Amino acid sequence: MSDRLFVFDTTLRDGEQVPGCQLNTVEKIQVAKALEALGVDVIEAGFPVSSPGDFNSVIEISKAVTWPTICALTRAVQKDIEVAAEALRYAKRKRIHTGIGTSDSHIKYKFNSNREEIIERAVAAVKYARRFVDDVEFYAEDAGRTDNEYLARVIEAVIGAGATVVNIPDTTGYCLPDEYGAKIRYLVEHVGNIDKAVISTHCHNDLGMATANTMSGVLNGARQVEVTINGIGERAGNTALEEVAMILKSHHEIQIETNINTQKIYPVSRMVSSLMNMPVQPNKAIVGRNAFAHSSGIHQDGVLKNMQTYEIINPRDVGIDDSSIVLTARSGRAALKHRLSVLGVEPSIEKLDEIYEQFLRLADRKKDINDDDILVLAGANRSQNRRVKMEYLQVTSGVGVRSVASLGLNIAGEKFEAAAGGNGPVDAAIKALKKIIDRQMTLKEFTIQAISKGSDDVGKVHMQVEYNDQMYYGFGANTDIIAASVEAYIDCINKFVK
Ligand code: KIV
Ligand code: ZN
Repeated sequence: MSDRLFVFDTTLRDGEQVPGCQLNTVEKIQVAKALEALGVDVIEAGFPVSSPGDFNSVIEISKAVTWPTICALTRAVQKDIEVAAEALRYAKRKRIHTGIGTSDSHIKYKFNSNREEIIERAVAAVKYARRFVDDVEFYAEDAGRTDNEYLARVIEAVIGAGATVVNIPDTTGYCLPDEYGAKIRYLVEHVGNIDKAVISTHCHNDLGMATANTMSGVLNGARQVEVTINGIGERAGNTALEEVAMILKSHHEIQIETNINTQKIYPVSRMVSSLMNMPVQPNKAIVGRNAFAHSSGIHQDGVLKNMQTYEIINPRDVGIDDSSIVLTARSGRAALKHRLSVLGVEPSIEKLDEIYEQFLRLADRKKDINDDDILVLAGANRSQNRRVKMEYLQVTSGVGVRSVASLGLNIAGEKFEAAAGGNGPVDAAIKALKKIIDRQMTLKEFTIQAISKGSDDVGKVHMQVEYNDQMYYGFGANTDIIAASVEAYIDCINKFVK
């Protein structure tokens, strides 16, 4: 029989505390809806007393989200609790998360208090929060460095006062996995009324042990984990949701399940990364660009023969196309052939030899060769079988003159033309394109790269266009970067114009 583990996502509270990563209310709603679709049980939506923005976000997220419990953070202060209760008024399921520091250093330096008084304040806060909501979570801040015997007394007292969940944060990310697991076990064994509450982990990653500590907590009896997407959070961050979800999915012997739809992990990770302008490190477990990218010839050969030789997770299980084998100078002909066939290109043996030669030359200059590079090398025409195709593009631009573009498109065999002026040649060309394809589309990302070096080089353009609340990725490659930009936009359009 497997046990259920509750996933409490704090991307929008602890995660959002990262300097420079603040989201506006509309963006927070977008993330909250994505978290709901991902299957999290609890969304910590903010700390309402901290700012009008946080207050408002908790209100709006409460309205927008249906299934997950919406949680609001407070200190053990009556005013905080009142404001949190007010912000949660539209939530279908609501929780107040209140608490206080319990380590000796917090008690002495932060509160200038003593252990008994802290227990009284904790109990009073929980009781007060219970006047507003039935679901109250208590956090013992810096529990990681709190003496276990005292922590057990605090926890027993707050459960007695009505706490439904007890959160044991390793606030400073100091604990070793064994130590954190033993702390949870100690509470399971020494808190008389522990069966009346769920124990939660909340681990920070200062020493790179957040996920290990969380798992140790779970293996010792915790049944809620507090996590963030991509492990974002203050300093070195929090436990990454995707890591815990995939550990449990991979290790069946643990027999603990979450409600996470793992195939949504990668899209949510991308969304959070782009909204927060916080790139994911390439080697980040589960969601990093290289997490499933085998570049050595030996690994690639093994994976092509049987994925299990070097992969413990199927990339599709986290919503990644299984095609992300990165090709490098060490890759063999077989890997290149496989990649080409995934991309729909089946060259003859002679043509493959030719592409392979060019590929090796490019790989000497460029570390990772991606799909777009390969398609350019293979001379594959991405616009074949596309509904919208560019027929011609003419642009006038320069210094001191307004840029003007005229564009001809072929849409399912019919010809269309438009001209437009703009703030630069790309803007003019895209405005002309939008005159023909008259839809509510917004350009969200736009990068231009050279494929190698030299002024006669092929320019590559990557774009993301938002249409109907969905993001579409497009690519264009051309020695003319304005044409490459229009191609990339058209590539996006072809993904939603059927
Ligand atoms: O790290 C921490 O202790 C916290 C609490 C406020 C829950 O984020
Ligand atoms: Zn925290």
